[in-house]
Amino acid sequence: MKAILVGFGFIGRSLVKTIRLKKNTLNLIDKEFKLVGVSDLDGYLYNEKGLSLEKLASINEIPEYSPNFLMEKSSLELIEKCDADIMIETTPTNIEDGKPGLTHMEKALSKGMHVVTSNKGPLVVEFKKLVNLSKEMGVEFKYEATVAGALPIFSLVNECLQGDEILRISGILNGTANYILSKMYFEGTSFELTLKEAQERGITESDPTYDIEGIDAACKVVILANAIMKRDVRFKDVKRVGIKRITPEAVNLAKQSGYVIKLIGTIDKNLEVAPKLIPETHPLCVHGTLNVLHLETDLAKVITIIGYGAGRETVSAMVNDIISVIKKRN
Ligand SMILES: NC(=O)c1ccc[n+]([C@@H]2O[C@H](COP(=O)([O-])OP(=O)(O)OC[C@H]3O[C@@H](n4cnc5c(N)ncnc54)[C@H](OP(=O)(O)O)[C@@H]3O)[C@@H](O)[C@H]2O)c1
Repeated sequence: MKAILVGFGFIGRSLVKTIRLKKNTLNLIDKEFKLVGVSDLDGYLYNEKGLSLEKLASINEIPEYSPNFLMEKSSLELIEKCDADIMIETTPTNIEDGKPGLTHMEKALSKGMHVVTSNKGPLVVEFKKLVNLSKEMGVEFKYEATVAGALPIFSLVNECLQGDEILRISGILNGTANYILSKMYFEGTSFELTLKEAQERGITESDPTYDIEGIDAACKVVILANAIMKRDVRFKDVKRVGIKRITPEAVNLAKQSGYVIKLIGTIDKNLEVAPKLIPETHPLCVHGTLNVLHLETDLAKVITIIGYGAGRETVSAMVNDIISVIKKRN
């Protein structure tokens, strides 16, 4: 199977390094697996015989690989002209119109390419359209990394809970907000001070609005509702309250009664992201940058998964998606 990688930022580069490390595992499933193209905003590199993973894993910018980098050529052109079977999409999330990822995914799926992505934007904007297109074309559309990073929520539901009705999903879906709330809980600091400290330590983006206003978590609620609960909802359907009004006094009062304030995303009849009081002993009560997903179902009753929701651990979900696509095609 031949793959192209669109987006060579933190996740794209981490993925290349991991594919290189796991080459033997991948080659056991598909001897012919190779990466034939890679692109970023500035252009792309394409070699139908395959690119060197060793070389790609050692660089930060694609032009360092070879002078054959096609400057100012778009990823769309790469998708159009390549003969790859699978596109791995890791461009920035845009929840306004899903671009550029949405355009890349529509093009690749229409061409009969499988798609594996970590990019939430296109799924928040056009989930149903993308799923229908992949079905129409008889190809795989895999997006495990878009919600809660390394946590295998879609695989869990699709593979292990096929007879269960999922009644409710709740979870901590943003590691940055959880880091801030955890720190306020353990150290009694104010929201403003904790945010500043988190920014200084590089835990938050320079603009942390997406994290602290619950926007990122609401995107994940939309994807979970559409993908798992088979709903047809949009970002505007999620009721959303962020964490910036939470005071040390509120955190302390909750603590004295055995509760912790956590930013919880909930998917049941309603869709919501809001700070909630969680008992210290509840499985949803995880600290630091960890994410957690708590499922309530008719047969299994409750299942909780905990793990890293962002960072290079996210690549675990993408590698599993790639292997699933290869196995299905085989
Ligand atoms: N970072 C995480 O921990 C994490 C976890 C889960 C999901 N995600 C999602 O995964 C995606 C990638 O995240 P990241 O952290 O790797 O972002 P990033 O470091 O900003 O990398 C984005 C990459 O996409 C490229 N790009 C931008 N516009 C493009 C276009 N039109 N065509 C081709 N390439 C384009 C950028 O190119 P230039 O370098 O030339 O600008 C860059 O190489 C995002 O959607 C993010 O939300 C990230």
